[in-house]
Parts: sequence; C-alpha cells; structure tokens
Amino acid sequence: MLKWYLGVFTMEDIYELSIEKFDHDARGIGYINGIITFVNNTIPGDLVLVKLKKKKKKYFEADVLKFIKYSADRIKPVCPYFFSCGGCDLQYISYDKQLIYKENKVKEILLKFANINSDKINKILCLDFNQYNYRNKITLKVNKGIGLYAKNSYDLVCIDKCWIVSNEINNLIKTIKENVILDDIKQIIIRNSIYSNKLMVIFDGYNFDDNNFLKIGNIVDSIYVKNNLDYKLLYGSKFLEEKIGDYIFNISPDSFFQVNTYMCKELYDKIVEYGNFSLDDVVLDLYCGTGTIGIYISKYVKQVIGYEINRFAVNDAILNKQKNLVDNIDFYCGTSELFFENITIVPNVIIVDPPRSGLNEKTINGIVNVKPCKVIYVSCDPVTLARDLKILSSFYEVMEITPVDMFPNTKHVECCVVMNLKKD
Ligand SMILES: C[S@@+](CC[C@H](N)C(=O)[O-])C[C@H]1O[C@@H](n2cnc3c(N)ncnc32)[C@H](O)[C@@H]1O
Repeated sequence: MLKWYLGVFTMEDIYELSIEKFDHDARGIGYINGIITFVNNTIPGDLVLVKLKKKKKKYFEADVLKFIKYSADRIKPVCPYFFSCGGCDLQYISYDKQLIYKENKVKEILLKFANINSDKINKILCLDFNQYNYRNKITLKVNKGIGLYAKNSYDLVCIDKCWIVSNEINNLIKTIKENVILDDIKQIIIRNSIYSNKLMVIFDGYNFDDNNFLKIGNIVDSIYVKNNLDYKLLYGSKFLEEKIGDYIFNISPDSFFQVNTYMCKELYDKIVEYGNFSLDDVVLDLYCGTGTIGIYISKYVKQVIGYEINRFAVNDAILNKQKNLVDNIDFYCGTSELFFENITIVPNVIIVDPPRSGLNEKTINGIVNVKPCKVIYVSCDPVTLARDLKILSSFYEVMEITPVDMFPNTKHVECCVVMNLKKD
C-alpha cells in the first residue's frame, strides 16, 4: 500500500479497482491512485482485483484477476465465445445500455475533438429486432480450424456459429466444416442476401478449379476462389442481389455493401431526410461503392455523379443503374480527390461515405473550394468524423447528427451528419 503513495506501481502487485465507465473501445476504466487504468472485459459497476500488464506515464492497462463484485448491469452473453472472440464487445450489457454507451461515445468524441455540442446529436437510430443475426457477411480465418481472431490478437478462436450473422450464414459454416477440405485456404468470406436468401462464398488463398469446393454447390448460389486480387467464379451466379427500399443491387465478391441490410435502409432514409432534395439538385456521391446511395436518392434530384476507387464496385454500380432503370446518374472509377481535379459539373450537394480513415486533405479542400450548399457525411468512425468536422466547420455549420446502430453488440457506431454552408 505504501508503495502506491510513493508513486511506485509494480507489475507484481495486485490492485483493487472500481470500474467507473467505458472507454471508446468498450474497455472498463478505473483509477489507481488517480491514474487512468483500462481493463478489458469489465463494465461500469464492476469491482475487481487487477494486475498491471502495461505501465505508461499517463495510463495503465490491467488484467482482471478476480471479480469482487459484478456490476448490476451485467447480463449473460448469448455467445459462448464472447469473452475470447474479438467479433463483439458489448454482448454482456443489455441492448438499451449498449445504445446509451454508443450515444455517449459519439457525444464525447464530437465534443472533445470537434467542439460539437451534444444538443446537435439525436437519439441513436436502431431496430429492436435487429440485435442478433443481423450481419449479411462474415470473414472467417482459417488455421487448423475456422473462426475469428481473439480480441486484439491474431490468435484464432474456433467457432461453430456466430450470433450476429444470419442463420443462413451459420448453416453454411456448419456445412463447410463438415464437407470442405480447407488446406491452403487463408480465409472464407460468406455473404448472404436477405432479399433473395442466397449465399455467396469466397475461398481465399487458392485459385484453381477444384471439385472439393463444389461439395457445397447445392446450398450456395455462387462459389468464388480468390488468390491475391484475382477472383475466379467456380460455380453459380456472378453476383449476389440485395434489395434496399425499392431498388435491387448487384454485389460482386470484392464490392463493399453495408453489413446490416435492415439498418442500411434506415440510414439511407435519414440521408433522404437530411438531403431534403429538390429536382434542381446536382448531387456528388463520393465513395459510392455499388452506387446504392446515389440510386436510392436519384428520384428526388436532377442528377447524381458517383466516384468510387474499387473497379468491381463501379462496374456493379453501372449495372445497378441499368437494372433499376435510373438514367440521371453516372459512375466513375477513381479516388474522390480525382473528381475535384477533373471537375466539369459543379454539385450543389455532396454526400461522402468514406472508409474508417475518413476524408483526406485533398478531398476536404475540394469540398470547400466547390462550396456545395449542403454536405451529408456518413461515417463509421466518430474519431475521424470529428477530425474532419473540425476542419469543415470553418466553412459549414453542423446542423444535426444521427448515430445509427449498424453494428449491434460491437463497440462500433455509424453516424449521419448534415451540414449547411455558412453565409459569408
Ligand atoms: C464505407 S464504403 C461506402 C460505400 C457506399 N456509399 C455504400 O453505402 O454502400 C466506402 C467506399 O469507399 C471506397 N473508397 C475507399 N477509398 C476511396 C477513395 N480514396 N476514393 C473513392 N472511393 C474510395 C471503398 O472502396 C468503399 O466502396
């Protein structure tokens, strides 16, 4: 005890810790003599004995040795792999508490890094029935077994099923385990269409025709083998088809598609609401993937231009435009910054939906030079969102932000933001 007062904290000593809150990675936070300490697998209200595993000047990381008292907010996770698997973070608190955690996380990050007040942030959008079995895609790692990586590591946790993916995907995992020889395979990607109830599977690490994979041909709609960036269709349909609202979309194996089909529609409806579009609007859909957002809003506007870096996704987008008989939209393969380098049409609304890394400097400069009257920013990482909003807020007023629970049971949260150009 005396050592603590002298400021000496050893890796051998055992410390008692009261967990006060979650951090933004869903780790429990307590304080050892005022020093912030992060503890995995704990929740606010837990009282624990811990041992330090990392000692930094300003913070510690610790592992639980023993629970003295469990928080009243704990529930039993439905998934037996929860405490080892890295797929989920929050299954041990109720769904209501998960939503509060995510709302607070967005509020704290946006206040801290972008000085955005919480009165701009709406209640999180969610669907009660959507807590489990919502994912339409899983990427399984293969290494003497099939599974997912453990939390913060590359150790494989072998699984028989996953509680957040669709039942169809789980049935296929079982069939693959029982029938397919997985020598040389590094990962297996399974995608499921909620609309057509069909499955696409991609065996990654192998690029040869092989009857071994065809053993599952009776339950999947398409089988691909993949080696590096090369996708070879071995069996069945080239695309999976998914439906959002009134539109049906082709999805190639390498194209991005929102993993939660149900919440995807909620998100796109929020974009339509925030857009408050008119038939004079010319909209730029940056990071457009398979063209979903652009096509979804196309009936409300004069023209849409979509930019996307992945050529497979752009090809899907062009087919999706034809498939849905939309004729006021054009898709281009290229980086978002390329649009601003070759600008021929000036959009008055820009929608951005970048990957977790957010917007790069050239894209932000491009937006503020073009000065659209409205920017809608869809983000899957509140930290990079806050970074970008801080810069954009010199030119744009953030009007509203809606968090969207696209990824129940995980720490992740999607956000949709609407910004208006400031008047000079
Ligand atoms: C979060 S996804 C959004 C896709 C689409 N808006 C949707 O809702 O399905 C981000 C997309 O950005 C694309 N991308 C990544 N970097 C890019 C860049 N520098 N320029 C354009 N697109 C990029 C990815 O290939 C991916 O399709």
